[in-house]
Amino acid sequence: MRIFLTGGAGYIGSHTLLEVLSAAHEVCVYDDYSNSAPAALARVEQLTNRKFKTVTGDIRDQVSLATALTEFKPDVVVHFAGKKAVGESVEKPLMYYENNVSGTLSLLRAMEAAGCNRIVFSSSATVYGEPQYLPLDENHPLSATNPYGQTKLMVEHILRDWCTARDQASAVLLRYFNPVGAHDSGMIGEDPNDIPNNLMPFVSQVAVGRRETLQVFGSDYDTPDGTGVRDYIHVVDLAKAHAAAIVYAAAHKGCEAINVGTGQGSSVLDVVRAFEKASGRSIPYTMAPRRPGDVAALYAQPDKARTLLGWDAERDLADMCVSAWKWQSQNPDGYGD
Ligand code: NAD
Ligand code: UFG
Repeated sequence: MRIFLTGGAGYIGSHTLLEVLSAAHEVCVYDDYSNSAPAALARVEQLTNRKFKTVTGDIRDQVSLATALTEFKPDVVVHFAGKKAVGESVEKPLMYYENNVSGTLSLLRAMEAAGCNRIVFSSSATVYGEPQYLPLDENHPLSATNPYGQTKLMVEHILRDWCTARDQASAVLLRYFNPVGAHDSGMIGEDPNDIPNNLMPFVSQVAVGRRETLQVFGSDYDTPDGTGVRDYIHVVDLAKAHAAAIVYAAAHKGCEAINVGTGQGSSVLDVVRAFEKASGRSIPYTMAPRRPGDVAALYAQPDKARTLLGWDAERDLADMCVSAWKWQSQNPDGYGD
């Protein structure tokens, strides 16, 4: 098939690109490199020994995007492009609504012009808001606690309405839990700008000596060790879920939301211990107050992905830490400048 990846140079996009090329699909990556580097694409080319098309552009640039889609004529679009930092979304909500919501509207218009009716969308477990029960299944009520979460919810609604209005349309909303880790080669991985917001990249930077101490946000939660519990999912498993979702979207019509998680919760201290084991380094940490907006525990009921996509997570927390460490230690400055 012909697969168009918006944001394909980013963390999850580059790992998915590798899986999609390995499955012998033809690919076009569309990215403005606002949060990524072309170096990631060069490394995927090296790893797969396959060529693919790239277009540099912003998804909000309707003309550029429509031209790219009309020329490439994709069977399925996988839509990663967007902003993802919760704190920044509170400070700059318009930037988030413009990139994530207007950007998606621009994409759907361009897809219609190019005659493409199938999309796989990067949604997030953030659409469940404060958990009312665990594990979170896809029928859990939806809500948003910040502008980033609002954009994911809005785009889910837009895609559902788009499918209702178009007989031939198919949308798969993949609700990611906490993606971490890197490709086994250590050649591609997560390369955050500035100070990482997320736990695993922060822990890796402490291990490699770029930062001194981890702050553990909250030690008095109602969890087994008092620290926050999340469902960490290996980015390679997540990439494989996209490959399965592409096949599903090509064979089905309508809109489906599907959790992508392991169903297993791990605490902050579980992650610290697993990373220490994987790296052979100690991770100094201090207990700090809770981070505003955080919940105690969040983990998925992953059965729907198994039933609809035939997909299951295969990698555990140790695999996630080993691969994250390989990437971090081989590339202490990420992709560099
Ligand atoms: P990322 O920032 O590494 O990748 C996003 C890519 O999109 C980057 O290459 C960036 O340059 C590009 N991009 C951003 N805005 C663009 C625009 N207007 N036009 C063209 N390209 C643009 O992020 P990621 O972690 O790979 O996340 C990918 C998607 O998954 C995002 O939509 C994110 O919200 C979603 N998601 C991520 C997580 C996570 O923890 N990483 C969790 C849930 C959902
Ligand atoms: N944490 C720390 N110290 C840090 C960073 C994080 O203790 O320096 C803790 C947090 O308090 C939380 C856990 O580690 O208990 C995980 O935090 P992350 O920031 O890594 O992940 P979140 O679960 O807060 O958020 C992630 C994505 C969001 C997405 C959400 C829902 O960043 O975009 O998962 O799946 F919406």
